[in-house]
Amino acid sequence: MDTRIIKRYSSHLPADDDHPYRRGAWTPNLVEYTALDLEVLEGAVPQDLRGVYLRNTENPLFPALERYHPFDGDGMLHAVHFHDGKADYRNRLIPTRGLALELEAGEPLFAGILENPALSQRPGWGARQGMKDASSTDVVVHAGRALTTFYQCGDAYACDPVTLEPLGAETWKGGFPEDWGISAHAKVDELARELLFFSYSKQAPYLKYGVVNAQREVVHRTDIELPGARLPHDLAFTEHYVVVNDFPLFWDPKLLAQGVHHPRLFSDLPTRFGVLPRRGTGGDVRWFEAAPTYALHFANAYEDGDEIVLDGYPQEDPAPRRQANDGPYSMLMRYIDLHALRTHLTRWRLNLKTGKVTTERLDERIAEFPTIHGRHAGRPYRYVYAMTSKPGWFLFNGLLKHDLERRETQSYEFPDGIYASESPFAPRSNATDSRQEDDGYVVTLVTDTQCDRSECQIFDAREIARGPVARLRLPERISSGTHSYFVPAWDLS
Ligand SMILES: [Fe+2]
Repeated sequence: MDTRIIKRYSSHLPADDDHPYRRGAWTPNLVEYTALDLEVLEGAVPQDLRGVYLRNTENPLFPALERYHPFDGDGMLHAVHFHDGKADYRNRLIPTRGLALELEAGEPLFAGILENPALSQRPGWGARQGMKDASSTDVVVHAGRALTTFYQCGDAYACDPVTLEPLGAETWKGGFPEDWGISAHAKVDELARELLFFSYSKQAPYLKYGVVNAQREVVHRTDIELPGARLPHDLAFTEHYVVVNDFPLFWDPKLLAQGVHHPRLFSDLPTRFGVLPRRGTGGDVRWFEAAPTYALHFANAYEDGDEIVLDGYPQEDPAPRRQANDGPYSMLMRYIDLHALRTHLTRWRLNLKTGKVTTERLDERIAEFPTIHGRHAGRPYRYVYAMTSKPGWFLFNGLLKHDLERRETQSYEFPDGIYASESPFAPRSNATDSRQEDDGYVVTLVTDTQCDRSECQIFDAREIARGPVARLRLPERISSGTHSYFVPAWDLS
């Protein structure tokens, strides 16, 4: 292994930091590395695993103005490049405009999600406004560039997916929606080579949607009018349609009018899914109503005769309540605890002929953070890989593989104190038939909190229950985070 230190940062966090999401598996990293040919602890890097695994993490350098939330942390991207039976690792802080301003000032400048935006010292970003666009939520690769994004909307920071060399805020050749920015979870259609994005705001029409082609040109955009400000986090698409959402969990409009951003579940309102042609306009949207809930993520969607099948993770309890013995972090922890929110893989069927929706729970386990074979996105598919979490915590302690055809699930539980990342499917580089949907690997980064170290682990996608087939040592323990992505070598250029 050839490990070079690229840069060291200083932390402005308190030395005796007691925040539960800046300690343990969430301790921020301060060193950027380039480590070529990672040491193999077990097994071997498969020769037919080619491409890049990317993981975005929240990695704060500065304390919050008042109250830190893990989703406020500065983005740090970790990448493992698999080629020729070897793996190279790199990690880099994402050079956001907000972080540059704070580094220059030597202090925090922006209010986070739990704080009053009026505290911000600069105009800031985000649908909520006044926030630091930390670019720490999501990462995808489109048109050969990795794009990191922030869940509250902002820039898409581009970098080379292999070297992580920064390429600046994405402009899409002048078409980037500078006014609202874009949300996390822009979706890549690998077959059409398009990126579908959305943006949301407190201003009417409240939702916008657009399409970027393989030449990085915005070839379509439209406004989608909603009844008010909403908090959409994801988007789904099929071969011909895009599915937007209007969940009845949003900032209480009365409080919002007073500048207070308090998300509330309006359980007398339905969930609404809006279906429009991929090149359609706001006027083309057909709305479908389902039981009230909130969902962060969709696994996939596809067309099936007259129906659109939409698989995702509705929350049984999207608004957990305060309890008598709550401590200072209790509500924060509850809102990011899958076991408090109670998320189950669920299928909605939207009937384009009758306008009716049916809902079916596909699995009783509590899980979230789904990934699938990228070539099946928007098309009929069979397998979902998802993460289970440690009760009470936003930490992934296990991996599931759902076979939706046979209605069977395989599972793997990581040993105590070892937490994984979102774990995408990586197709075998010489797989000739993508109908062999699980012909490949599942890749993750794990943090071992007992030994204070991290590994890259590779699973055989057909037998995830067997545990990792290869384990590679990373130079340092890495911080936990949210989303990951695998880009096959054939999509790197
Ligand atoms: Fe997300």
